[in-house]
Amino acid sequence: MAQELHETARALVAEGKGILAADESDGTIKKRFDSIGVESTEENRRAYRDLLFTTEGVEEFISGVILFDETIRQSASDGTPFPQLLESKGVIPGIKVDKGAKPLALAEGETITEGLDGLRGRLEEYRGLGARFAKWRATYTIGDTIGGGLPSEYAIWTNAHALARYAALCQEAGIVPIVEPEVLMDGDHTIETSLSVTSRVLHALYTELRDQRVDLEGTLLKPNMVLSGYECSEQAGHERVAELTMQCFYRHVPAAVPGIVFLSGGQSDEDATANLNAMNALGSHPWQLSFSYGRALQAPALKAWRGEQGNVEAAQRAYYHRAKMNGAARSGMYAPEMEREGAGVS
Ligand code: 13P
Repeated sequence: MAQELHETARALVAEGKGILAADESDGTIKKRFDSIGVESTEENRRAYRDLLFTTEGVEEFISGVILFDETIRQSASDGTPFPQLLESKGVIPGIKVDKGAKPLALAEGETITEGLDGLRGRLEEYRGLGARFAKWRATYTIGDTIGGGLPSEYAIWTNAHALARYAALCQEAGIVPIVEPEVLMDGDHTIETSLSVTSRVLHALYTELRDQRVDLEGTLLKPNMVLSGYECSEQAGHERVAELTMQCFYRHVPAAVPGIVFLSGGQSDEDATANLNAMNALGSHPWQLSFSYGRALQAPALKAWRGEQGNVEAAQRAYYHRAKMNGAARSGMYAPEMEREGAGVS
């Protein structure tokens, strides 16, 4: 079992490849569809995921796809269930298993991610449906309150504990857990604040993972990059982001972890690619540095699609292009000039 987990984790961060996060919950996909004026019906959601998963050749850059509970049960237009379709292209199916961030009791403005009750049974079912890895996302807000700065140690440690409980249950079920502690970049905080909060979060996470006996070689970390708050007047450039993000991870993430797969978290597509590229350009690191992007892989495709069958090809070209750019960023070979070649979106 341990060996299979290690192999799956390593395959997800194979050279030149990363993960597509297509696990938007019903609420989130509705928001994305609202932005292009498409109604969020079950069939529209299916058609959109179909478009992404059947994009020809994208498996050159995509190792795995994270699905939502509804999506893992849906099928492509030719009737092939999505997990089987992905497997047939050598893409590993994954599943989001958390039930979302809910208000944390006695902690105004902070959240705890729920979904542990009944998780053992759900994991068994998901494995039967083809899932070989999973995702659980905790979120932390940076801010000030009368009682002190956020996030509190209380929110950091309760979420770390839940992430570790989830990870242990996944490994018991033969599923690689992606642990996702996301420090949100909304706000006017500086990049130095982002560094210190991300450090506290990672310290708690790896303490809990060790205490709960999680085998790190069979996990992946999905973190935020260390960025300036989006409303901060001084925005750090790609080199500074790369330098501080690496400083943080060298201090807190054990070398046993095979890969770090970043979330994009509301950065522009090209910033998400350029920041990943800058980190990989710094040289070889103890872990693979890759991507597990949602918005930064999908935004141009969503815009090109607009719910019209006639736009499917243009949308697939746009998705393929972003996957290829991020594939190049995996080895520090990305350059902004490459954006002009073959994006195929007018
Ligand atoms: P973004 O890349 O859009 O942040 O989404 C990644 C993800 O899966 C968040 O949980």
